[in-house]
Amino acid sequence: MCTLITNIGELTTNTDAGMLRDAAVLMADGRIAWVGSADAVPADPAGFAEIDADGRAVIPGFVDSHSHIVFGGDRAAEFEARMAGEKYAAGGIRSTVAATRAASEDELRARLRAFIAEMRAQGTTTVEVKSGYGLDIETEQRLVRLAAEETDEVTFLGAHVVPAEYADDPDGYVDLVTGPMLDACAPHARWIDVFCETGAFTVEQSRRVLEAGTARGLLPRVHAGQLGQSGGVRMAIELGAASVDHGTYLSDEDIEALAASDTVLTLLPGVEFSTRQPYPDARRLIDAGVTVALACDTNPGSSFTSSMPFCIAVAVRDMGMTPVEALRAATAGGAAALRRDDIGIIAPGARADLVLLDAPSHVHLSYRPGVPLVHSVWKDGVLA
Ligand code: NIG
Ligand code: FE
Repeated sequence: MCTLITNIGELTTNTDAGMLRDAAVLMADGRIAWVGSADAVPADPAGFAEIDADGRAVIPGFVDSHSHIVFGGDRAAEFEARMAGEKYAAGGIRSTVAATRAASEDELRARLRAFIAEMRAQGTTTVEVKSGYGLDIETEQRLVRLAAEETDEVTFLGAHVVPAEYADDPDGYVDLVTGPMLDACAPHARWIDVFCETGAFTVEQSRRVLEAGTARGLLPRVHAGQLGQSGGVRMAIELGAASVDHGTYLSDEDIEALAASDTVLTLLPGVEFSTRQPYPDARRLIDAGVTVALACDTNPGSSFTSSMPFCIAVAVRDMGMTPVEALRAATAGGAAALRRDDIGIIAPGARADLVLLDAPSHVHLSYRPGVPLVHSVWKDGVLA
């Protein structure tokens, strides 16, 4: 099946071709077949369905490389208390664990699908999904299995926090995560993750988790620097993590090490917004040579937004990113954080994942915050 989008006012390719004006894109069999000027579209004897963008902008579909969207319940009361002055702490995760264990598989699946649909309507065409609200073998396995029904980018996060029943024996919990829980979950996952933070796991425990995961063929990614500086960032780089996520608190050495590495720093502005923490200085990070991604971190505790346009708007308004840098971080940056080269770009051969904005330029994503600017979304060449 072939579809041509023509009369595109501004096309963001995220390739050396840069930003094209008066452009057209041809999609065939789920891939981008051709990109170029609207007046140079190749002739197709079979014809193709034609969409007139009427001067609007087209961008790659958002790649949201960090989410926790298989869970039960919510934590609206915790958010309300935080807005009245309470501090965010990792321990809140345990209340979602209780609600997730109590939920049925059908309930969890229905909610997960609803979140994915919500994301798709806001322009997200690839989403990474983490487990981490089960924290026992059976529930963690259920979460990675459900996630794998919806995405190829599944992350086993058994080391999200130490569950209440192991409060007196955190190392015993790490034994469980690196042993039988990993055995049960690894077949359904691509990634292994750990929350390396005060109130969650130490650098040593995190290293054990990541090494056990990589020994099982999973690829490492790490939550670090959310609530304070820690050695987690450099440990992640040393282990070749695809991404360190959060990075709200980084030392100069962390920034230098990130810039010299292949590890992407995934910034999660929804977290700072919803926990009233200071925003990371993305300008400084980019100027230092760090590759950055933007993701929503959709979860019931620290960031219950699923909107990449919202995250872009905050990154531009409060983190010093230019609109084009923020868009790139939310597309090609997310792809780099997932070590993917077939998404996050609009180029021949890439997946036909793209978004037609109801706006003439990508700048409107941050210029018009909170306004639904997604006109149409194609995933694998199919209109969603
Ligand atoms: O990425 N940092 C760890 N995990 C989530 C928070 C989870 C929660 O509070 O439920 C995060 O922010
Ligand atoms: Fe997270």
